[in-house]
Amino acid sequence: MTVREWDASRYDSAHSFVWERGRGVVELLDPQPGERILDLGCGTGHLTAQIAESGAEVVGIDSSDDMVRVASENYPSIRFEVADARSLPFENEFDAVFSNAVLHWVRPPEAVVDSVRRALRPAGRFVAEFGGENNIRTIMTAVGEALDALEQDGTEVYRPDKYFPPLDEYVSLLASRDFRVAYSDHFERPTPLDGGEEGMRKWLRMFGWDYLSTLTPSQRKQVVAHVEKATRSTLYAEGTWTADYWRIRFEAFKPE
Ligand code: BEZ
Repeated sequence: MTVREWDASRYDSAHSFVWERGRGVVELLDPQPGERILDLGCGTGHLTAQIAESGAEVVGIDSSDDMVRVASENYPSIRFEVADARSLPFENEFDAVFSNAVLHWVRPPEAVVDSVRRALRPAGRFVAEFGGENNIRTIMTAVGEALDALEQDGTEVYRPDKYFPPLDEYVSLLASRDFRVAYSDHFERPTPLDGGEEGMRKWLRMFGWDYLSTLTPSQRKQVVAHVEKATRSTLYAEGTWTADYWRIRFEAFKPE
């Protein structure tokens, strides 16, 4: 089964809400001039650039070559590298590690937290936001139903396996890996999607690449049509689709 990779151009042109909504996490990070900061899962680099505007020295990493290529084209003066969040090639280097809308894509979470702790200098901070419990539940229930129907017809399907933990589980995980959690929150953040009537379709094509890319074009259409039909009454109003996002946001410190 071949699973397609991220499409950075599509991400950059049609899903700006991801980094626009991430500005609040940058405020929590509160980057200072001269600080060394790692943006973990930088995508096309827009939040990395916003952090750099504070005068901090930022490095952006992403697991996708395509994202790193587009980020480097967007912001040639910033250093971007391909790296795996579970095995970051840094030790005691950063005053802060920042991450927006990424941690739910990477398993196991323990490996990410350990890798971030290694990359931080003593007393460094880890500031992040990602999908928590209930995140996109309405959408994923409809996707699951559509995949069930294909499976019943004999298709081999790939099941999305995102990490959307309850807040107490994630806070315990951070504490058990030697972080002191100074702030944490789990909150509902309904997120209007770009693209008007086509918003859900576009979102599924961008963020559902893992399970859609293994299907034929007509099976993909079937999944998209089912999701639109099943979620329209709750997620569509006045020409705009709204994704039922729930976020975990936190700030945690490595010991001195
Ligand atoms: C998100 O919460 O940002 C997200 C989760 C899974 C797929 C796409 C987006």
